[in-house]
Amino acid sequence: MRTVLVTGGAGFIGSNFVRHLLAHTDDHVTVLDKLTYAGSRQSLADLPETRFELVVGDIVDAHLVDQLVGEHDAVVHFAAESHNDNSLASPRSFVDTNLVGTFTLLEAVRKHDVRFHHISTDEVYGDLDLDDPARFTETTPYNPSSPYSATKAGSDLLVAAWVRSFGVRATISNCSNNYGPFQHVEKFIPRQITQLIDGLKPHVYGDGRNVRDWIHVDDHSGAVMTILDKGVMGETYLIGADGEMSNREVVAELLTAFGREPEDYETVTDRAGHDLRYAIDSSKLRRELGWAPKYADFSAGIASTIEWYRENESWWRPSKSATEAMYGRQGK
Ligand code: NAD
Ligand code: TYD
Repeated sequence: MRTVLVTGGAGFIGSNFVRHLLAHTDDHVTVLDKLTYAGSRQSLADLPETRFELVVGDIVDAHLVDQLVGEHDAVVHFAAESHNDNSLASPRSFVDTNLVGTFTLLEAVRKHDVRFHHISTDEVYGDLDLDDPARFTETTPYNPSSPYSATKAGSDLLVAAWVRSFGVRATISNCSNNYGPFQHVEKFIPRQITQLIDGLKPHVYGDGRNVRDWIHVDDHSGAVMTILDKGVMGETYLIGADGEMSNREVVAELLTAFGREPEDYETVTDRAGHDLRYAIDSSKLRRELGWAPKYADFSAGIASTIEWYRENESWWRPSKSATEAMYGRQGK
């Protein structure tokens, strides 16, 4: 039986990954999570106590991290401050968690020679023009725009340096925008779904032409499992499901699913430095490790996500008013 330490496992993608791992392996999972505003015990409430444990703590705490890493066979590192808008308003915690936290984990996996997988984002590559035929690949130069993406880029470079200089057994994945259950209502899709459940209008930044490359969170989990099992040490893998859509198109899809007119949204203040387009070429992961996404139909994935938010109001309702108050102060 393998023991896996999952940092940030009480967050959106981490909690979905833990559920995926428990369903598809015999692994024992320990989650290390600080339970910031973005983490929730409730996201892990139904998991079997015999195979799962939650440790509430900070990845910057070197003593705790050293102890936990020494007790596990592998670490999958999701913990991060993850929201661009917050990084513009208050960047300090992004430097602490994303950079110092990753450094702290790297020192521990180096000391104990533990397998490490680092979760990152396509945002490290900056953005593409709308009509650029290119997509991001593993060799695209780093060019991050926001404090969030700059700290994620820095954390990736720390991992690469620890591989090269100290022989740490690590892989990196950079994934596109995820959607699915348990995503905080500050993020684009859950914010708009919960607006619509409340009979309000979606809020679209700027002209809404910005393009994101959407992937269902279960497909991200499957890809990370594949890399954990079959990935080549020191390699980076891009994860994406060919899901490019403009924000206006996504909002139209959501509005239609709620029986509303596709143009029935408000345009609000644009994000400073707002990246125009992300697009992932995931052919290396598909070719070399045999991974393929399972959620081909965005409309079906969105319908089940809407259903989840309708059925789990007690999960998201406590965060909704504070999130909208925060956006209100920013004119968004
Ligand atoms: P999230 O904000 O939902 O969850 C982050 C989790 O990390 C929370 O549970 C939080 O409590 C925990 N955390 C934060 N600081 C911590 C600290 N100092 N110590 C311990 N735990 C801490 O984020 P998410 O959307 O699930 O993203 C997870 C990872 O995936 C991040 O590394 C992010 O950069 C990456 N990623 C996200 C997306 C996306 O679309 N959301 C896409 C690509 C990559
Ligand atoms: P977000 O979910 O914050 O992810 P990211 O910034 O990592 O791509 O935003 C996705 C896109 O949606 C991005 O172009 C910003 C836009 N957006 C809105 O138009 N309205 C909103 O209320 C939010 C939260 C985001």
